[in-house]
Amino acid sequence: MYKEITLVLLIGLVAWTYQAILPPPPNICGTPNGPPITANRIKLRDGRHLAYKEHGVSKELAKHKLIFAHGLTSCRHDEVLVTHSSPEVVEELGIYSVSFDRPGCGESDPHPNRTPKSLALDIEELADQLGLGPKFYVVGYSMGGLAVWSCLKYIPQRLAGATLMAPVVNYWWPGLPANLSEKAYRLQLPQDQWAVRVAHYVPFLFYWWNTQKLFPAFAVFSGRPEVFSPHDVQMQPRIAYKRNYKGVATQQGVSESLHREMKIVFGDWGFNPLDLENPFPDNKGSVHIWMGDEDRLVPVILQRYIADRLPWIKYNEITGGGHLFVFADGMSEAILRALVDGRK
Ligand SMILES: *[C@@H]1O[C@H](CO)[C@@H](O)[C@H](O)[C@H]1NC(C)=O
Repeated sequence: MYKEITLVLLIGLVAWTYQAILPPPPNICGTPNGPPITANRIKLRDGRHLAYKEHGVSKELAKHKLIFAHGLTSCRHDEVLVTHSSPEVVEELGIYSVSFDRPGCGESDPHPNRTPKSLALDIEELADQLGLGPKFYVVGYSMGGLAVWSCLKYIPQRLAGATLMAPVVNYWWPGLPANLSEKAYRLQLPQDQWAVRVAHYVPFLFYWWNTQKLFPAFAVFSGRPEVFSPHDVQMQPRIAYKRNYKGVATQQGVSESLHREMKIVFGDWGFNPLDLENPFPDNKGSVHIWMGDEDRLVPVILQRYIADRLPWIKYNEITGGGHLFVFADGMSEAILRALVDGRK
């Protein structure tokens, strides 16, 4: 009798655990119960669709074409460079920008096997299908930094220049001094230290971690105010536009959008950004990092170390800037000018 009860309880426990840790399947765009397709999309070599959105001057008139990689909990609507610059400056510089939904976000099909490399190849394919020519710029904001580092690694010959804005740093990059990484890591909220630990060490539990109620989940997902610096608080009205697109980023499910992203960024990249060589030894382009020194999501001390190790990167630090420094007056124009000026 006891044996049977124990067995039943055990089966129940396994079933419950399985259900708790296994994310539901994604709700794919364009399927009968999925969200509708409203964006322009290309079909990639492997059959996946990638949604994109164009900004700035037309492709035909453009002097400079760039591909924009968005941050976490964001999507193709979060191109924050050209859309937040004055139209006169965009016109004067002749800039065309295309943002895209990362796989699993917005209206791009999920890619459960995606890697930093596959992301770089998706970007190259997007450029080619849109006819951007042999060379284009890449820009990444926050988590979009992964896309730019991957392009610098895998498709440097296609780049006209690159800009990283408050780019994410993986505490586990080989070559980051352990004491520095540890110090930066300890600056994060305890709940975020845990979320990042789970993403790195036990990624298959990440869905459960962020849906359980016992411990607080990743602060960015839950929108804790502590993650914003005083300057970020001032900039917040400028991201009010995001309300128009609420829920779009994660409409196919949090697992293939937010969680997949975290697991990749804090997992093994397959290369070490600190080992990258200058992609523009002939000075025909440039690579920039822009960073606020009061950013509470990405520790500035790590960014300074990277800039020191990779002297071919032009490092621009904004005093008093937080994670939203990009939205300050004149900032996006300055970032655009620096990028395209590097190509004279
Ligand atoms: C880490 O250790 C190195 C070498 O011992 C030292 O020079 C550096 O200042 C330390 N950094 C921090 C952040 O403690």
